[in-house]
Amino acid sequence: MKKVVVTGGAGFIGSHLVQHLIGQGDEVHVIDDLSTGKIELLNPGAKLHVLDIRSNDAAELITAIRPSLVVHLAAQADVQHSVLDPAADLDINVNGTLNILRACREANVSKIIFTSTSGVYGRIFKNSLWSQIRSSRSPSMDYPN
Ligand SMILES: NC(=O)c1ccc[n+]([C@@H]2O[C@H](COP(=O)([O-])OP(=O)(O)OC[C@H]3O[C@@H](n4cnc5c(N)ncnc54)[C@H](O)[C@@H]3O)[C@@H](O)[C@H]2O)c1
Repeated sequence: MKKVVVTGGAGFIGSHLVQHLIGQGDEVHVIDDLSTGKIELLNPGAKLHVLDIRSNDAAELITAIRPSLVVHLAAQADVQHSVLDPAADLDINVNGTLNILRACREANVSKIIFTSTSGVYGRIFKNSLWSQIRSSRSPSMDYPN
């Protein structure tokens, strides 16, 4: 059994991941401010900490738990919202991520998983996916994830 922190664990991807981790017997801590996430999606076996990823409390929680794995999924993931309010998007997705990464360094977390977006590569055609990923980035949107 390992200790895992999942940020954004009450969201779309996170809630499925939490379900899987609980199923394999891991101790799962979720950091989520429930801004878009839903408590009813969360497996009751997970420990929910309703916190903002930009907060000192979230950072201190990670250093207290000292997990072996942090999966960072908490994000403002609405593309339209990121265009309407890029400053808020930047604050959550960049400063929030920085706060989580600093806490991971403090807690000596050995593995961090971060989900970006295929949008950083621009329009990708199925058969040339890997050659495009190796060649260059070409963001198709403002969303800075
Ligand atoms: N869904 C997809 O198809 C897809 C594809 C590629 C990448 N991603 C990336 O994966 C990640 C998760 O995506 P998702 O679809 O599960 O999104 P989601 O919106 O369902 O989940 C995000 C979670 O983060 C939480 N959250 C938002 N701001 C927060 C904050 N400041 N502090 C704490 N929690 C906060 C929300 O409450 C929510 O539960 C995002 O980074 C997204 O860009 C998603």
